[in-house]
Amino acid sequence: MKFSINAARDRLSKPIFSSIALAGIVGGIGVATFSSPSAAAAQSSYSTGSTSITYKAPPTNLVSEGKAIFEENCASCHGGLAQGSARGPNLQGLGAATIDFWVSTGRMPLADPTIQAIQKPSRFNRQQTLAIDSYVVSKAPGGPAIPDVNLPSASLSRGESLFATNCAACHTITGAGDALANNVYAPSLMPVDPTQVAEAVRTGPANMPRFGPGTLTNAQVADIVKYVMYLHHPNNAGGIALGHVGPVTEGFIGILVGLGAVMLFGFWIGGRSH
Ligand code: HEC
Ligand code: HEC
Repeated sequence: MKFSINAARDRLSKPIFSSIALAGIVGGIGVATFSSPSAAAAQSSYSTGSTSITYKAPPTNLVSEGKAIFEENCASCHGGLAQGSARGPNLQGLGAATIDFWVSTGRMPLADPTIQAIQKPSRFNRQQTLAIDSYVVSKAPGGPAIPDVNLPSASLSRGESLFATNCAACHTITGAGDALANNVYAPSLMPVDPTQVAEAVRTGPANMPRFGPGTLTNAQVADIVKYVMYLHHPNNAGGIALGHVGPVTEGFIGILVGLGAVMLFGFWIGGRSH
């Protein structure tokens, strides 16, 4: 039996991806080519030769605590061994970063499986979250571990231009978020912490593309995270009408508005081709 939410996701992701590709071509902006979503594929290359991000496995001594929490809160949909059921997908082999992202951002546990899982206050404290991560990871290897981002060594200005190229088309340059298509929206980036941003980039939750190490290096991801954290407390540089835009020039906003128009066209094309 095909799991229906995933089927819906497959249907949704296509127009978004095609519109991004189109926006990249028409806008002449180097939007990253998104790597295939096979989580385990590039796992070994996540940590190579980088001090920008350290990937940490959740502590193994929390497995039994995690098992108890998982059985009570997750197993009814994902199965006792995280193997999946008709009510929720298989979680084995996704890696700690994926589990950690969905639980720490409050997306899981889910109340209504028919709507996009949203960011909400997490039901669990940090140790309980790590315990859940640890239990699921104990079932199968694979996927990136939990990213610890070295922000002091990252570059805000490089982060800004990388964010403009890779993220702003969906999340807007201010990180305020935007509606995409078919009732999918790219959420505001205001409530997230550095680990959650890196987890989203590396794992590509739901309709967001995944940016693997072949697309963005750890140093580049750290730069992007620094920019997102800057957006939380931008020095107000006077851009009243544009909100807290900070260092971004108005001409650049013009490009983004144009890009948005191109994206809408892309959605239309994507919608027509089905
Ligand atoms: C009511 C059923 C339900 C419960 C309870 C639930 N989940 Fe889920 N979970 C889902 C569904 C449905 C999806 C797919 C949602 C989507 O893709 O937007 C999902 C997706 C996920 C994903 C993302 C999988 C992927 O392929 O990226 C993770 C990780 C996850 N759940 C972990 C958990 C954990 C951990 C718990 C317990 C704290 C939990 N879930 C509780 C139904 C549930
Ligand atoms: C194709 C559109 C798209 C692009 C490009 C994109 N995202 Fe996303 N992003 C999304 C969507 C859709 C979600 C919501 C996923 C879900 O339903 O869980 C999301 C979720 C997120 C979240 C989680 C926010 C929360 O509410 O917890 C973060 C953080 C994030 N994205 C950061 C980024 C960064 C950084 C980039 C660039 C490297 C990026 N995104 C590129 C569409 C996009």
